[in-house]
Amino acid sequence: MELSWFKKGTIYQIYPRSFNDSNGDGIGDLRGIIEKLDYLQSLHVDILWLSPIFSSPNDDNGYDISDYCAIMPEFGTMKDFDELLKKTHERGMRLILDLVANHCSDEHIWFKEAKKSKDNPYRDYFHWRKPSSNGGPPNNWKSFFGGSAWEYDETSGEYYLHLFTKKQPDLNWENPKVREEMYDAMRFWLDKGVDGFRMDVIPLISKREGYPDAPGFGFRKVIEEVYANGPRVHEYLKEMTEKVVSQYDAFSLAEGVGINHENAGLYIDNDRKELNMLYHFDILECTIVNGKFEEVSPFDLVNMKGIFKKWRDAVHKKGWIANAMGNHDFARMVSRFGEDKEHWAASAKMLFIMQATQNGTLNIYQGDEIGMTNIELESIDEVRDIQSLNFYNENLKTKRYSKELALKMINNEGRDNARTPIQWNDEINGGFTTIKKEPWIKVNPNYNTINVKKQDDDPVSILNFYRNLLKTRKQHDVFVYGDFEELEFNNPEIYAYKKKFKEEEIIVILNFKNVTLDFKIPYNLSDVEPLLNNYEVLEMNNNVMNLKPYQGVIFKI
Ligand code: GLC
Ligand code: CA
Repeated sequence: MELSWFKKGTIYQIYPRSFNDSNGDGIGDLRGIIEKLDYLQSLHVDILWLSPIFSSPNDDNGYDISDYCAIMPEFGTMKDFDELLKKTHERGMRLILDLVANHCSDEHIWFKEAKKSKDNPYRDYFHWRKPSSNGGPPNNWKSFFGGSAWEYDETSGEYYLHLFTKKQPDLNWENPKVREEMYDAMRFWLDKGVDGFRMDVIPLISKREGYPDAPGFGFRKVIEEVYANGPRVHEYLKEMTEKVVSQYDAFSLAEGVGINHENAGLYIDNDRKELNMLYHFDILECTIVNGKFEEVSPFDLVNMKGIFKKWRDAVHKKGWIANAMGNHDFARMVSRFGEDKEHWAASAKMLFIMQATQNGTLNIYQGDEIGMTNIELESIDEVRDIQSLNFYNENLKTKRYSKELALKMINNEGRDNARTPIQWNDEINGGFTTIKKEPWIKVNPNYNTINVKKQDDDPVSILNFYRNLLKTRKQHDVFVYGDFEELEFNNPEIYAYKKKFKEEEIIVILNFKNVTLDFKIPYNLSDVEPLLNNYEVLEMNNNVMNLKPYQGVIFKI
């Protein structure tokens, strides 16, 4: 196995809008990130991933790009970016950007031109189709964010494809000019010295010929079999890697939408020279049965172990994955998989032990290092996320759920949970912004108790636990590369495993229950001090551990 900086390095995702506001307009910005570089360095993270910072009308908070080579004015200037990049590198960290290559904004010059007429040179940058015989959309494809994936254009009498909002028209990768435009944009940033890209919904770039109707199965399967993994996707990715990424000391991290453990190798096996790694959706969606705001299933630990296992097996020889428990598209990890009330701190730390000892590049989302929780929005007026808003508005028409239930579902699953501003201290608005007026999205009212300042001063805080664990992880390759052996795989309450790499071995024991549990381990550890423990004590009689609620320990043997 090839060891490399992007495998062992920890990725920290920044959602710039919600990170830190330096100029008091209520919106996080690049200078805000510069102000916090010392903080980021203190976490022992290695790679900063910035969610999109490019010009955008912000229909989907920057995932709708109107100029790939310009900075969104709300976030600052190119000078600010250059300074951020330089200072990140000076601290020995790397920086990757978020490449949204599947679609752009309808306010991008390409689309504005394309709309002018059928023979405009930019027309073929997008997917245009005639109405179906009944005058409706060309097929039954649904957008990820609700409603048809096609929008009618009055001028030409044709529809254009948008798998996300109608302000995010899909780019036509069949057109070599589109590909070259994208490669040029990538080179522009790589030439400045950025260290790679997180590639937004990259498995969707190749569309199926003739745009066939989607069969009537669940949305998740539709994504896998109709939207993602199209006939030319691998050809495009090889081309992109050969012409661009491989020419630099840079790496690619794919958002693995529609990729499963069976076809993952086609994207990430290193001999295929496509992508360096991906993060998949199986853990992120393990309680989401068929797409957001549909059925929800209770958290099931054995199921989760199974997901980790099948991915480990799948990428064992040639591939590599990143491993994420949350990001800007999901509810907060401690609220979903742990417990954000009585055992908040213990469960946040325990979950991090699990995440940091799985194989793959560790991928942390901002705010998880202080155990930020979901927010309870009181009315739909407080909701900002376009996906949640579309769901709510569509539900007003279909009346499938009551308004109260729809809001509750948004509070449970919606993306705003992860987008509330970082809580820096207990001052007004959690110190995120200096303004008197409200920030762009509500700050979680629990900032008085959950904030960076408070945890910085507390040696046993979640924050300092993250720091310790990340520092320890750097010193032991076994955390990252070790072979995995499960103990009691079918135990629904305890996750226990051993990892081995060269001469090093660690044993990890995690109690996923909110009560005390006994666990008998098949090793004699009575003389071994835990390397890390999220409680100050560990009770052990012979080989039986008496684990406290959400207790997690790592032994090195
Ligand atoms: C990805 C992003 C998400 C965005 C979507 C469309 O899933 O993570 O935030 O809305 O792509 O670009
Ligand atoms: Ca600002």
